[in-house]
Amino acid sequence: MKLKRVGILTGGGDCSGLNAVIRAVTRTASICYGAEVIGIQDGYDGLIFNRCQELNNTVTRDILPLGGTILGATNKGDPFEYREYDSDGKIVIKDYSQKALENFRQLKLDCLFSVGGEGTLEIAHNFQKMGMPVVGIPKTIDNDLEGTDYCFGYQTAVQVACDALDRLQTTGRSHDRVMILEVMGRTAGWIAMEAGISGSAHIILIPEIPYHMDKVLEKIQLREAGGSPYSVIVVAEGATEHGGAEITTEQAESRLQGVAQLGGVGNYLAHSLGEKIDLEVRCTVLGHLQRGGTPNSFDRVLGTRLGTFAVHAAAEGKFGNMVALKTPDIVLIPLEDLAGAVRNIPLDAQIIRSAESIGICLGR
Ligand code: F6P
Repeated sequence: MKLKRVGILTGGGDCSGLNAVIRAVTRTASICYGAEVIGIQDGYDGLIFNRCQELNNTVTRDILPLGGTILGATNKGDPFEYREYDSDGKIVIKDYSQKALENFRQLKLDCLFSVGGEGTLEIAHNFQKMGMPVVGIPKTIDNDLEGTDYCFGYQTAVQVACDALDRLQTTGRSHDRVMILEVMGRTAGWIAMEAGISGSAHIILIPEIPYHMDKVLEKIQLREAGGSPYSVIVVAEGATEHGGAEITTEQAESRLQGVAQLGGVGNYLAHSLGEKIDLEVRCTVLGHLQRGGTPNSFDRVLGTRLGTFAVHAAAEGKFGNMVALKTPDIVLIPLEDLAGAVRNIPLDAQIIRSAESIGICLGR
């Protein structure tokens, strides 16, 4: 089909590499197809409330190394179940999907490139079913999307966490302390696992393997007895204690977002360990440092490849798909095959075996 005018939005939390995608989509659409590109602002909010901007090669010229997204993003704006406050300050849920579809049509777009994680892609799929031609582009630092080997943003986040562990190692060793690093990832342990291996953590705790406190203690004490009275632990925010609480949350449910905000397991662990050992225990919560800032080269290249392939797929009329990395190729995966599935680290994954083979304790 002849692409004349396409739209792009970035939904969910930001991450490094989003601007690489925006730039690649803009350049490919204009250079290869002479198409106009409209940037929809603040995720699906821009489509509901008509906030958009024209994108071209000049606007996107210097954005490749920039963190975040020049279009803005939100993880509160599902047009099918839009949460907002009424005049009494109560949360009401509205369906704005028809309004968003009408705005899409008024913008005379041939296709919408929807860049985001599981939630954003599920919404894209729902719009596709209503007749909006969409192509999904997978993004999340959590790396927990089915169908793609890696999401852009993930490798940068792992590098940030690895650098943090390198720094914590030195303080741990200098002061004979147990240093805990809490990393993001929601219910998947990918960031913790890869950052932990690359940052020489002695203990890695992931949501996929509920940890036993006595195993964590045993490892710390073994190290101490062996002449290393310090340990470095990386714990995923979604990790849980065997037989303990479901998941640790800072806030049970952020009001407009409608989902629990994870966090706190690092401090919980520090407190529990501190009561049982003589060594000092400290916790660092890495938080949004993992999401912001300049993308590494891997994420710039992956974002660029996914963005260009998405435009070529649209030009061939292959809507209703997500572009995905199946090393070494970029392929198309039907959005309906994803259906909100989350990819965890399989318990028989080689990476788990590798970690334990070099003596890392996974709390079991
Ligand atoms: O999904 C990406 C992510 O960074 C998670 O790892 C984390 O739990 C969540 O988003 C944090 O979201 P927010 O920025 O809304 O607190």
